Amino acid sequence: MIALGIESSCDETAVSILRAGREDGHQPECLAAVLSSQIELHRQHGGVVPELASRNHSVDLPRLVRLACQQAGIAPQQVDVYAATAGPGLLSALLVGNTTAKALSLACGKPFVSVNHLEGHLLSPFFTQPSGVVPHLGLVVSGGHTLFVEVRDVGDYSLLGRSLDDAAGEAFDKVGKMLELPYPGGPEIDRLAPYGDPTRFSFPRAMRRDGTVNVSFSGLKTAVLYTLPKVREANGEIASQTLADLCASFQRAVIDVLVDKAFFAQAQMQEQSSPSANVLALSGGVACNTELRSRMEQECHARGVQLVLPAMGLTTDNATMIAYVGMLKALRGQFHSLNAEVSPNLQLTTIKNRAQG
Ligand code: KG4
Ligand code: ZN
Repeated sequence: MIALGIESSCDETAVSILRAGREDGHQPECLAAVLSSQIELHRQHGGVVPELASRNHSVDLPRLVRLACQQAGIAPQQVDVYAATAGPGLLSALLVGNTTAKALSLACGKPFVSVNHLEGHLLSPFFTQPSGVVPHLGLVVSGGHTLFVEVRDVGDYSLLGRSLDDAAGEAFDKVGKMLELPYPGGPEIDRLAPYGDPTRFSFPRAMRRDGTVNVSFSGLKTAVLYTLPKVREANGEIASQTLADLCASFQRAVIDVLVDKAFFAQAQMQEQSSPSANVLALSGGVACNTELRSRMEQECHARGVQLVLPAMGLTTDNATMIAYVGMLKALRGQFHSLNAEVSPNLQLTTIKNRAQG
């Protein structure tokens, strides 16, 4: 089976083509993965401008689809299933990718699968795993979401907890903006943090031991904001060592909370003898974070939990994760009508599948 996936939920336009090597879709071969990032464009505005994003998706997509087919050495008619992100994301941006995939599906007479972007992130760590998707605790940490999910099988999920306000990536980006770092703030804070002292500022770890798997980062963000006037030099600037200390202290606070909550959830699942307790998978843009990856490695090792990390190119938004979920659903006979809607607030468990005979 050959699957073509399109991602256009935010500021990355991406097309990937996969071939399932085996009937179960484990370890598919990536025939093409092309991506056009709009980060430079949105950086000038300090964040994503929805109108600019959708306009650029519509300019870029036809070229990217042609390029992906060329790279894969196939014609669009040879694709067996077309998949596109249906949400969550920016409405007009989602519509561009979704409509393109539906048009190709209609023109080529091939089925269409509507993919939840969060499911794409959630399953992305298993793309390269010989076992395929196994029961696990999934931690999705992206710019828009922080989710703790018990995954029993593809499509069989329980949401254990989430951020009650800002997503982890959003907190990184907002703090980055306060510190006048280039957009997006996450990678910049990650880059500066190793030069700083993570104990210099004692930022709050909200809800750390509240007995739930929910997190909150808005108080942390405000604490950074209130600290800034106290550390500015007479000329209003922040000394480079102070900047690094702020990055390190903020990042440590986010990671402490994520680690605590992940293992609180894992311990609960273990008490219930859930097979998902033995594996932890990290996904989403913040899964690129160097300190988060190494802390999770140490903590998993100490508890005998297997850690599954996505390949670096599959952490931030990409179309390979969309094609992967599209392929897994198609192999299970789950397709969607061309009337399937896009939804900016799509939840992880919203997409209903329509079995096709
Ligand atoms: O998953 P993603 O590409 O987009 C969403 O679906 O939201 O995640 C983007 C987020 C941004 O907030 C970005 O700052 C963050 O991932 N990010 C990082 C790092 N790389 C990307 N955050 C912390 N450390 C990083 N190295
Ligand atoms: Zn994403």
